[in-house]
Amino acid sequence: VKVPFLELADATAELRAPLEAAFARVLAGGTFLFGPEREALEREFAAYCGVRHCVGLASGFDALALGLRALGVGPGDEVIVPSHTCVATWLAASEVGADVVAVEPDPETWNIDPGRVEAAVGPRTRALVAVHLYGQCAEMDALGELARRHGLALLEDAAQAAGARWNGRRAGALGDAAAFSFFPTKNLGALADAGALLSDDADLAARVRRLGHYGAGSKNDHVEKGRNSRLGELQAAFLRAKLPHLDAWNERRRALAQIYLERLAGRDDLVLPRVAPGGEPVWHLFAVRVPRRDALRERLAARGIGTAVHYPVPPHRSGAYAPERTRLGALPLAEALAETLLSLPLHPHLHEREVHAVCDALLEELDA
Ligand SMILES: Cc1ncc(COP(=O)(O)O)c(C=O)c1O
Repeated sequence: VKVPFLELADATAELRAPLEAAFARVLAGGTFLFGPEREALEREFAAYCGVRHCVGLASGFDALALGLRALGVGPGDEVIVPSHTCVATWLAASEVGADVVAVEPDPETWNIDPGRVEAAVGPRTRALVAVHLYGQCAEMDALGELARRHGLALLEDAAQAAGARWNGRRAGALGDAAAFSFFPTKNLGALADAGALLSDDADLAARVRRLGHYGAGSKNDHVEKGRNSRLGELQAAFLRAKLPHLDAWNERRRALAQIYLERLAGRDDLVLPRVAPGGEPVWHLFAVRVPRRDALRERLAARGIGTAVHYPVPPHRSGAYAPERTRLGALPLAEALAETLLSLPLHPHLHEREVHAVCDALLEELDA
């Protein structure tokens, strides 16, 4: 059995008719930006997450960067970010001119360790970005309490966590604001780049909308230096076709993740992800820690099993942050995760027998 890591064509094949209907509707309407589809998606996605306001934007990165700006973060400020995350989290803080301060992960959940945040707070700290990595919410109770106590803005990077819950509440409803990515591979993915910023704060949402529209308060009155970040009508219409399926898809991801968790349990040479109490992950990715990861990956590939690595280079080791490496300090946990994590195939259109085939191959290779 060959199991590719991900085939996006499967997800679009299931929804071919509604996606084509969405395309036809936008084509017939003749409005491609600033139209009814984006407005409706904003309402529907806000309601889904249990948040008052949603602003459709061009990408998840824009949602993070404009969100940080609207939260008052700028040059001279520090933003606390996880050391183990997609580099986009860091780049968004850098984009607004802030300095990133990296905090190491919990060694078992791989999300930012709340116990290590306190020591990273200083006089210039303005915000904390809580990334819900691989679809599992960060420990938002502890992080919310820290943010309140230190007067920090709390921004969720929920790019990988559409539909996840923390103590019953959805990702997106757990901080001062939340950034979502609708990158095509995400649990809720468009057919091109797209993103959104969610918040219960009407002023914050309005500011993000303005910043993404050249800073225009009203027509041609540019009250601040904004830029262009638009969620187009086509992508909004596609996302509306997919949103009603998100819960079922996430359920399916959970059922498949359960197979991995059961079949791969109890080994000394393989570390499974731990779900924090209160968390209800949506398994955007299913990653495990393995020894000699790259060689194992090649052997699995030779057997037709596709895997991926999220992420082989920790942000502080990337060229972009080379000039800041001394200031960022040693981040051994992020480096260990970058060396050992392996993402196994997991998506809603995967068959149980394919998950078993991945487990068979992986266990055989580990025992070889
Ligand atoms: C954790 C995380 N943050 C931010 C982003 C950025 O989102 P986008 O690619 O839509 O800009 C991504 C995905 O790419 C991500 O996985």
